[in-house]
Amino acid sequence: MRSSDDTQFALITGTSSGLGYEMAQLLLVEGYTVIGVSRRGTTLDHPNFIDILCDIRDEAAVEEMYELIAGHTDALHVIVLNAGIFEMSPLVETSTKEFTDHLSTNVVGAFHVLKHASDFLVEENTHIITVSSIAAKKGLSNISAYSASKFALNGMIESVREEWEHLGVRFSTLMPGAILTKLWDDENEELPRDQMLSVSDFMHVFQMVVTSPSQMQFPEMTFLHKKGMLK
Ligand SMILES: NC(=O)c1ccc[n+]([C@@H]2O[C@H](COP(=O)([O-])OP(=O)(O)OC[C@H]3O[C@@H](n4cnc5c(N)ncnc54)[C@H](OP(=O)(O)O)[C@@H]3O)[C@@H](O)[C@H]2O)c1
Repeated sequence: MRSSDDTQFALITGTSSGLGYEMAQLLLVEGYTVIGVSRRGTTLDHPNFIDILCDIRDEAAVEEMYELIAGHTDALHVIVLNAGIFEMSPLVETSTKEFTDHLSTNVVGAFHVLKHASDFLVEENTHIITVSSIAAKKGLSNISAYSASKFALNGMIESVREEWEHLGVRFSTLMPGAILTKLWDDENEELPRDQMLSVSDFMHVFQMVVTSPSQMQFPEMTFLHKKGMLK
């Protein structure tokens, strides 16, 4: 059923786990109707949550996703580009598939979601929040594929921010250091987990950004554990 005009809608990619799941919960508390996207789907159960299964690497699937969204609304007030993958390996041990998987999810996937969002933008209102990484600012050992994808993601966002400036759409890009989510489950156990931000640290920043006054945007919001970047 289509909702009444005063309902605020938020689209978030990557809601099946980690930060996306938490951001969806926060936006529900803030009163949004939340559309969550992932390949696996989520356990989040709320009357104002709409779960859509979609692989954002597949443009046709993203177009189908927007057809489903159009059944509920023609206006997205918040769009969170969050879905992403992360694997660590030295460059010489990184397969071409692993490298291109990072690009096709973290950059091309976000491109698909953004490109087909254009019909749902609300002038002087929509806030597009990208979950990038400190790895978009500084390459570190063993994350060449991830870092390349996040540098590219930031470049794409900067370009489209210029293109859509006349619409009054806001763009904020979050660039956190390491956050202890399941993304780290399969990675080197020796990496110091006590030097990672917690999910609630991240949510502190996200809440501030998403509830900020409508004339504000945060183009490069870098934040780290006080001990600095993981080495
Ligand atoms: N955790 C950190 O240390 C950290 C630090 C800085 C930035 N980030 C960024 O934060 C974002 C979220 O990471 P997280 O820590 O919450 O990791 P996570 O728990 O692994 O969550 C990643 C989410 O992305 C979704 N996803 C992955 N590929 C997808 C695809 N092709 N289509 C649709 N959805 C897809 C996953 O869902 P499905 O598998 O169900 O599709 C999952 O919901 C990522 O962009 C990551 O780069 C994380």
